[in-house]
Amino acid sequence: MSRLVVVSNRVAVPDAQSATSGGLAVALRDALQSCGGIWFGWSGRTAAHTADEPTIAQVGPVTYATVDLGRKDYNEYYNGFANRTLWPLFHYRLDLADFSHENYQGYRRVNSLFAEKLRPLIEDDDHVWVHDYHLIPLGLELRARGVEQPMGFYLHTPFPAMEVLLALPSHELLVKSLCAYDVLGFQTENDLRAFRDYIHYEVGGDLLDDRTFQAHGRLVRAEVFPIGIEAGQMEAAAERAMELGAARRLDRSLGTRPLMIGVDRLDYSKGIPERFRSFERFLDTYPDHRGQVSMMQIAPLSRSEVPEYKTIRETLEGLAGYINGRYGDFDWMPLHYLTKNFQRETLAGFFRLSRVGVVTPLRDGMNLVAKEYVASQDPNYPGVLVLSRFAGAARELDAALLVNPLDHDGVAAALNKALIMSLDERRERWNAMYARVRENSLERWRERFLTALRAVPTPLAVRSGA
Ligand code: F6P
Repeated sequence: MSRLVVVSNRVAVPDAQSATSGGLAVALRDALQSCGGIWFGWSGRTAAHTADEPTIAQVGPVTYATVDLGRKDYNEYYNGFANRTLWPLFHYRLDLADFSHENYQGYRRVNSLFAEKLRPLIEDDDHVWVHDYHLIPLGLELRARGVEQPMGFYLHTPFPAMEVLLALPSHELLVKSLCAYDVLGFQTENDLRAFRDYIHYEVGGDLLDDRTFQAHGRLVRAEVFPIGIEAGQMEAAAERAMELGAARRLDRSLGTRPLMIGVDRLDYSKGIPERFRSFERFLDTYPDHRGQVSMMQIAPLSRSEVPEYKTIRETLEGLAGYINGRYGDFDWMPLHYLTKNFQRETLAGFFRLSRVGVVTPLRDGMNLVAKEYVASQDPNYPGVLVLSRFAGAARELDAALLVNPLDHDGVAAALNKALIMSLDERRERWNAMYARVRENSLERWRERFLTALRAVPTPLAVRSGA
C-alpha cells in the first residue's frame, strides 16, 4: 500500500499529546502506522522566528515533521486569518470576522512555507491528506511546486452558504485552492450543497454528477464523510470511570439530584452564553426544578490570545455569577462553570452520570461531544441528549431533542421535557442514536475518505499504465 502524508495545523507527536488529544489524532496515527508515511504541520510551539527546517521525529514507520512558528507567523496565520477570519465566517459569524490583509498575507505565507518544507519529503506514489481551514491553500502551493500526487482535503468545520462566503475578500482564491485537491470531504450534505452552489453559480463550474465537478481546469470529487467516534472505547471508558475518584465523588455529591452537562471548548460558536440564558429561562419557567437540578458546564480555555475569545470568557463569567447569585441557595448551586480540562475518561464518567447532555452550538461542523455523550450512557438507564439543529451531528442524531439554541424558551422547554421523560422513551431515543454512533465510527470515516483518495491514480501508476 502506498504511503500516506497527513498534514494538519497541529501535529500530535506521540508522548507530546495534551490530556484532551484523543480520537482523531489516534485514528490518523493508526492509518499512518499501517501504511507508513509522514505527519506534517505546526509543532504547537512558537519562537522568535519560524524555523528554517522541520524537526523530524521517527516513530516506527511514521515520520513526524513539525515546524515551530515565529510570533509574527503565529499571530497572522493562526490567531489572525485562520481564527479571526475563516473560523467566524465558516460559523456564520460575519459580525465577528476580521478582514485584515496583513493576516491574509500571513496565512498565505505560512501555507507557502509549509509547501516548501513538505515538498522534498513527498515521494512519487504518496497520497496526501490535508486537514482543515488553516491549510486550504496548501494543495495549490504544492501543485505549483510540481506535486501531481493525489491530494485530498477534509474540512472539519461547516462550509458556509455562498452569500456568506462572498463577504470574504479572498473568496475566489480560497475556492480555487480547494479545486487543486482531487478529493474534498465535508461533514454534512448542507456543507457540500453550499460548496456546490458556489462552484455552480460563482465559478461557473460543471456539476457532472452528485459528487464530481469540473472547475478551474480540474476534475474534483466532493463528498460527505461525517466524522464519527470509536463508540466502544468511549463506552468502556465510561464504565471504567465509574470506578475512579472523580466520577465517584460527583455521584456522591449529586445524591438523587439530576445533573445536566455541557462540555465544549470555550468558543463563541458553541453557544454557551445562549445556553446559560436558556438555563436561566428554564429555572424561571419551571420553578419545581429549582433546588433540584444543576447544570455543569465544562469549558476549557481555547485560542486565548484571540480578542473575541477573551470577550466570550468575560461574558460567561458574568452570566455564571449572575445566575448563581440570583437562583443559588446555601445548599444548592444551579450552575457549575469550570474552565479546567479533564481527561477523556473522566468526562465519559461525567456524561454517564448526567441525566441530560446539553449540546447547543450556534453552528458546528459535527460536534463529537454529542456522540460521546450518547456512547457513554448506561443502556438500561440512558440520559437524554438536547442537541442544536445547527450541529452537523443533528443529521445523524435526529432522535435527540433537537432545538434552536437562539430560542431560549424552546431550549428551556426541551430541558424540562428531557428531565421528565419516561424511561421507555429515553431508551427508545437512545437506542436509535447509539445505533447510528456505532455504525458511523471514526474508522469508517477514515477508511471511506482514504478509499476515495486511493481511487485517484498516482503519477507513478499513470506513467506505468497501471
Ligand atoms: O474543530 C476545528 C479545530 O480546529 C480542530 O481541528 C481542533 O482540534 C480544534 O478546533 C481546536 O482548535 P485549536 O487547534 O485552535 O486549539
